[in-house]
Amino acid sequence: MYRCQKCRDTGWEEVDGENGGYSFMRECSCGLLDRHKLKMQRKLKFAAIPKEFEDLTVDSFKIDCYSTPYYRELAQMAKMIAKQYVERFQEIKDTGKGLYFYSSVKGSGKTRLAVSVANDLIRKEMIQVKFATTLQILDQIKATYGEKKKIEEGSGGSELNLIQDIISVPVLVLDDIGVENVSSWVNERFYNILNGRMIEKRITFFTSNCSIEDLRLDERIVNRILKMALPIEFPAESIRTLYAEKENSDLLDRLIGK
Ligand SMILES: Nc1ncnc2c1ncn2[C@@H]1O[C@H](COP(=O)(O)OP(=O)(O)OP(=O)(O)O)[C@@H](O)[C@H]1O
Ligand SMILES: [Mg+2]
Repeated sequence: MYRCQKCRDTGWEEVDGENGGYSFMRECSCGLLDRHKLKMQRKLKFAAIPKEFEDLTVDSFKIDCYSTPYYRELAQMAKMIAKQYVERFQEIKDTGKGLYFYSSVKGSGKTRLAVSVANDLIRKEMIQVKFATTLQILDQIKATYGEKKKIEEGSGGSELNLIQDIISVPVLVLDDIGVENVSSWVNERFYNILNGRMIEKRITFFTSNCSIEDLRLDERIVNRILKMALPIEFPAESIRTLYAEKENSDLLDRLIGK
């Protein structure tokens, strides 16, 4: 029944203590835990989460760094929703709905929280997640044009394959939507990606500096995003600026020997 009788496929085996001492648990020699760790490492590598946010979790998202009670309330609400989303992922995932974090101010913590949800989902659900800014995706698509020759030679990836790959990732963090210069070329690519993900009910988390309604993308795309994600407002305050000022003042204190 179990692949490993020693640990009953838990990865942990019970070992009798010496000279009648207490028994204890240790990692089973069948290597199940190592395989589990390896699988998670592969998932984390595939996710391509920026170094700055690599190990951050929803729990360590701070609330007291925001300066006003209203901003703290917005941040608290965003954190609570993110936490519930991770905890109740199994019951939510079939809706195909993600979250859309927005605030007009840069540095308010949108990417920080979106990536934290992704990190938590990888660890808790072992699910495949991908992080990409919208500009990265557009650049990757452009790069496939140079691959044309390689495709003719039998290697390299086509635009269609790349878009299909982006559509098929179970959870996608699409960072900074709305910064791109909109053209019909951009609209067509976004439409293909988001329409594909919507039809397949794949979960997408968005971050943006504008609300869904204010996105300057084609109406058909905006309409799909409205269906694909729950909008969550972020505080209009830059924690990045706050941290930068604090770091600068700490550095100045050190340099002038305070
Ligand atoms: N609530 C928070 N708790 C801890 N760190 C935070 C919080 N909010 C922001 N930060 C930190 O501040 C910096 C900026 O945050 P982040 O990149 O998430 O901002 P953003 O809203 O995505 O900005 P932009 O609109 O420029 O993309 C990061 O280093 C992040 O870790
Ligand atoms: Mg961001």
